[in-house]
Amino acid sequence: PSQATLLRLQHMFEVTGDKLSQISKHMMAEMKKGLASDECAMKMIPTHVVRRPKGDEVGSYLALDLGGSNFRVCEITLDGRGGTRSRQSKHVVTDDLKTGTGAALFDFFADQVKHFLMNDGQNEYSAEEIESRNYKLGFTFSFAVNQVSINKGYLLLWNKGFSADNCVGEDVVRLLSEAFRRKKLNIDVTALVNDTTGTLVSHAYGAPDTYIGVILGTGTNAAYVEKVENITKFKSSGTAKDMIINTEWGAFDDEMVVIPRTKYDHKVDRGTSHPKTYTFEKLISGMYLGEVVRYVLLDLVKTGEIFVAGGSASKTLKIQYAFETAYMSRIERDHSLDLSDVRTVLEDLMHIPSTTLADRRLTRAICEMVGKRSARLSAAAIAGVVTKMNKLDGCTVGIDGSLFELYPHFSNRMRDALHEILGFSADNIVLEQARDGSGQGAALIAALATSITE
Ligand code: BG6
Ligand code: GLC
Repeated sequence: PSQATLLRLQHMFEVTGDKLSQISKHMMAEMKKGLASDECAMKMIPTHVVRRPKGDEVGSYLALDLGGSNFRVCEITLDGRGGTRSRQSKHVVTDDLKTGTGAALFDFFADQVKHFLMNDGQNEYSAEEIESRNYKLGFTFSFAVNQVSINKGYLLLWNKGFSADNCVGEDVVRLLSEAFRRKKLNIDVTALVNDTTGTLVSHAYGAPDTYIGVILGTGTNAAYVEKVENITKFKSSGTAKDMIINTEWGAFDDEMVVIPRTKYDHKVDRGTSHPKTYTFEKLISGMYLGEVVRYVLLDLVKTGEIFVAGGSASKTLKIQYAFETAYMSRIERDHSLDLSDVRTVLEDLMHIPSTTLADRRLTRAICEMVGKRSARLSAAAIAGVVTKMNKLDGCTVGIDGSLFELYPHFSNRMRDALHEILGFSADNIVLEQARDGSGQGAALIAALATSITE
């Protein structure tokens, strides 16, 4: 490839330090707007979570966790001394379930919960035994909902590949409770929780200085602690001073005011079931990064700048979402002289007939540009939230999700960008991996909700 191709692409995907600062300032302004009005793209949802766990919570709670790459059922036991025990089962939600009927989707959840309860790893119980018991459950549902109470929320829109019918506009707790009833389960859904809120609460349980929970996975989003007096659109009936806000920052800058987009980003956007919304998420998260790279590669095939030796372009490269973000991780991790793992991805997984070293270098460079842009934009968003909270003197950010956990150099790239935006203050912000925490967070919130109502 010519040096000119590389430079052209680099220029398209570059986010300069100045731009990052602008983005983070715009984030702050949009957060303020969203706290004042429901009409904004970035929803800034009051979660009704006003208390943080103290460590003295006790009891066993179920958690159901939907919206990332897996669906999980968990049982979490809180021992009253800050300790927890848990067991969980993990399942894949098939594309058929994601895009089928709402009833089938929620029946699937209820069935999985029933199986989970009937076999706890040591004992087997009959359906009758399970049906005769009562359980409390926290539902981690990682989509935007209009949350009207701690256990009631109306689905605003699906994203991340979900489009099951008869769900948008419905209270998802009711949908789940009805499925439990159909399966004869006696389960009270006492809390409805976003994954970011779950991550924040559960990370804060171990690291009390945590004020932000971030997801960098299939999708991206953040929740943080806000002063109730600043949530001007919210009519508070209680005395709580703070409440967790689910920002839904995936929809940040949908008006396209501040972040430059490439023609490839527009193609990715048009190919989704929800064009023109959640456009920030489409620049950042694991569901979409590979897709951006795929469109760049297709364009270069068309202009004859890549994979020329192979003759024809591969059919696989033309399939939507065929180039997975996990491939980018593999490609960026390949430091061998002949880029042999890049070859495996391109030739064995993407079925490109043959590649030259120059093709593989260019592919790697493209992955780097797209991966770096994602990390830098995430950092700008975090810088905005931390500044808005007045926590530049120190706080911990609990971060979960496959992108942050598995994508090489992701956190270092975020750190670099944070320094460019915040200077020395960046040293006061601790980015910490949170793992599988949102189930535990949902259980803790279910425990808090139970203690409020009892
Ligand atoms: C999991 C959380 O660890 O991470 C989920 O328990 C969350 O609630 C998920 O949605 C996000 O990561 P990914 O990569 O699975 O989308
Ligand atoms: C999407 C959802 C949001 C969730 C995020 C991460 O952006 O709208 O609720 O937190 O994905 O899973």
